[in-house]
Amino acid sequence: MPGRLDGKVAIVTGGGGGFGKGIAERFLDEGAKVIIADFAEEVGQKTASELKCEFVKCNVTERQDWENILKVADEKFGQIDIVINNAGTTYRNKPTNDVTDEDFDKVFAVNVKSIYLSANTIIPYMQKKGNGGSMVTIASTAGIRPRPGLTWYNASKAAVINATRTMAVEYAKDNIRFNSVCPVVGLGTGLTDLFLGKPEMEKTFMATIPLGRGSTPKDIGNACLYLCSEEGSFITGTDLPVDGGRCV
Ligand SMILES: NC(=O)c1ccc[n+]([C@@H]2O[C@H](COP(=O)([O-])OP(=O)(O)OC[C@H]3O[C@@H](n4cnc5c(N)ncnc54)[C@H](O)[C@@H]3O)[C@@H](O)[C@H]2O)c1
Repeated sequence: MPGRLDGKVAIVTGGGGGFGKGIAERFLDEGAKVIIADFAEEVGQKTASELKCEFVKCNVTERQDWENILKVADEKFGQIDIVINNAGTTYRNKPTNDVTDEDFDKVFAVNVKSIYLSANTIIPYMQKKGNGGSMVTIASTAGIRPRPGLTWYNASKAAVINATRTMAVEYAKDNIRFNSVCPVVGLGTGLTDLFLGKPEMEKTFMATIPLGRGSTPKDIGNACLYLCSEEGSFITGTDLPVDGGRCV
């Protein structure tokens, strides 16, 4: 059976683990060629060899690292069709008065500047190739239904949802589609513990999700697959909650 992403080349940032690994796995199942771009070299290499895909070490906050991803993808495959901006970070849930300049700068560099740099380096390449493209921002329910204790994380995700929607309109003429996926708290992925703040919060939080559980890497991979496949070809400018009904 043909794969839903046959012939496509996808970059997945933060693909070494968590949601990013789930996305890479789902894309590979459906025939895509995947490049995992992660700053955790050992973990990223290990995941790439387990999944049988490419790995590029990168810090998504650095322009030269995006230029390198572009170079590797172009030399290896001669095209880039999909970028999943998944790498993200947060500080541990705490009173907003206790947030430091360092917390703020890190969250905005990793969660927001990365989207700017990916767009600034990859869109001109996609335009030049003329085959369109699909860019997905892994945002968060935090960007549309914020909870206390994570003000600047929430704001960073709201910022990228807005930027993603703006670019959807601006680059529709090039058939480059932009969508956000908004996961509710993950089941055991890297950042979950920081969002919850204290382990005892897990049960309380899960009780606020109508379908009764957190999101899995497979849930997020499925949503990205839909948006990036032919089935999603008329979808642009959405922010899709993958949240078991949490944002209703
Ligand atoms: N876990 C959750 O509860 C949750 C909920 C909603 C949204 N999200 C979002 O989903 C995304 C993934 O979260 P996760 O829980 O799977 O995280 P994770 O910590 O399990 O994985 C993140 C990956 O990104 C990489 N990474 C971090 N900073 C990087 C940088 N500067 N450059 C390159 N790679 C970098 C890490 O090495 C890691 O492999 C993030 O954007 C996060 O904000 C997570």
